[in-house]
This record gives sequence, C-alpha cells and structure tokens, in this order.
Amino acid sequence: MPLAGWVLAFLALGAAVAVACWLLVFTEGAYLGPRVVTVLYDRYAGRYDRVKAYDKHYERHFIGEPVARFLAERMEVLPQPVWLLDAASGTGRFTQTVMQAAGSELRFVCLDSSGPMLEQAFRNLDGIAAAGQVFYVQHNAGSLPFADNAFPVVACLEALEFVPQPRTLIGELVRVARPGGLLMLTNRVGWQSHLFPGRRFEREQLAGLLRSRGCSYVSITPWQVDYDRVLAVKEGGSAMPPPLDWRNIVRCESCSQVSWDGYGAMLRCRQCGAVFTETDGIWRFAAS
Ligand SMILES: C[S@@+](CC[C@H](N)C(=O)[O-])C[C@H]1O[C@@H](n2cnc3c(N)ncnc32)[C@H](O)[C@@H]1O
Ligand SMILES: [Zn+2]
Repeated sequence: MPLAGWVLAFLALGAAVAVACWLLVFTEGAYLGPRVVTVLYDRYAGRYDRVKAYDKHYERHFIGEPVARFLAERMEVLPQPVWLLDAASGTGRFTQTVMQAAGSELRFVCLDSSGPMLEQAFRNLDGIAAAGQVFYVQHNAGSLPFADNAFPVVACLEALEFVPQPRTLIGELVRVARPGGLLMLTNRVGWQSHLFPGRRFEREQLAGLLRSRGCSYVSITPWQVDYDRVLAVKEGGSAMPPPLDWRNIVRCESCSQVSWDGYGAMLRCRQCGAVFTETDGIWRFAAS
C-alpha cells in the first residue's frame, strides 16, 4: 500500500477510536440510547460509590440541608407521610443524604433504569432506612410512572444529560412535583459539558425552561467541577390534598390511570390490567 494509503488508514482508525471513546467513555452511552446507558451503569454499579467518592460535608451542605430546611418550614401543612422522589437515583445518594439530614419520618422513591444501581442503593440504605421507608422502582425516567402533583420534593441529580430528551424529563419532573414543591436538579457545566451537545443547558436557558414549565424561585449555584445545582419551586396550589399512599402515587405506564387493585407486593391496574410488582425489593411493571 502506498504511504498515502497508510496515512489515511491510520487517520480513519484514530477517528474511529476517538468516536468510540466519546460514545462509550466520555458520554457513557448517552448518544447510543437509554438501553446502552443502562447496560453501562449495570456494569459500573459495584464501583460507582468508590469512583465518585462524594464528600459527605458537601453533600450535606448542597443536598441534605436545603431539603431539610424546605421541609421543616412546611412540615405542618404537608399531608403526611411526605414523599420524596429521587429520579435516576443511582446508588441512593440523594435519599441517603436527605434521610440523614431530615430525619426518619419521610418516604422516598428511588427510581432508576439500572437494576444493579438500585440493588446497590438498597444495600447502602439498608440499616439506615426504616422498613417500608424507601420504594425502589426500575423504570425509565423519561416517562415517570407516578401521579401528577404527588411529591413535595423531586430530585434528579447528574442524569439530565443521559436521557435523549432532557426537556421532556424536566417536564415529567415538574408534572409529578406537588404545587409549591421543591425541585433539585443538576446541569452539566465545565469543558466536558461540551461533549454533550443537545443535553446541556446554558444557565439562563435552563432557568427560562423551568419558568416556562411553571416553576419560580429558580436558583442555579456552582457546585461540583462538572455540575451546577439547580433549585426551583413549582408554582401554585395551596389546597391540601389527602395523604398519599403508594397506591395513589403510582401511575400505570400503559394507560396513565392511578387506580389499582391489590395490596402488598403486587398492584393490578383497574383500567387495563397492567401489573406492577415487587421482586427482591424492586418494583417493576411486568412485561405484558
Ligand atoms: C451519574 S449517575 C447519577 C446517580 C445519582 N443521581 C447520583 O447523583 O449519584 C446517573 C444515573 O442515571 C441513571 N439513568 C440514566 N438514564 C436513565 C433513564 N433514562 N431512566 C432512569 N435512570 C437513568 C443511571 O442508571 C445512573 O444510575
Ligand atoms: Zn393501566
């Protein structure tokens, strides 16, 4: 082969390696679809906490204390029990931090598409959480299987950039938040954020998006090297809804009804018969 051929082959190989690194390493499968992201996190689950090594003091300052303050100011007017959603919960970082900062009366839903990440969350929270205090749900965050206005606090940390349509996810997070409820999100920043075209927001752009979805008091604070912390409050409604139990919170993924028969570890949708069931501590919709 002439020299030019070797040079071209070498350049093509370099480009292929660079694209593969971008797709699989730097963006963790984000542009290959939710299934690939999930498979990569399935494999990463055992190492995730060790690799991230979050500093407990920062976690408490940036996550635990703001949520604890928010709830303390409203506890008397909130219907009990108070439910918090940790969407794309991973190994339970938000839940663990808030539980330690805000006490034991709260109920948490950890939702993630990766079963092994949820199993690690289960292990991390086992012994800290009271029985029945945390519900683990394996599901895609892009369409949340929860009723409108269900959660006084909704979190989604370090995950917006992994879903194909972050705007849709933000819409879902706002939908399931209770009017007057708190949203805590992260937005990717720093040079690496430019590796996520279409998945990151400029600060003003994100604030505008949240306002257009019915949020106010949007505050965006520099936090970690790669992430800003985003807080917002969903506008509206001071009417006191009745206390919610698990059956009022789960929304059927097939027909969007919130109406279930059954108790314990299996719920059956009254409208379409879809089954939502718990196995080894994790709730999933049964494949139909
Ligand atoms: C970087 S981790 C963040 C985990 C946790 N929120 C934290 O801050 O440590 C991203 C998480 O998002 C989850 N995830 C990615 N895409 C998802 C999707 N479409 N639906 C639900 N979870 C998703 C992954 O499985 C992973 O657990
Ligand atoms: Zn249904």
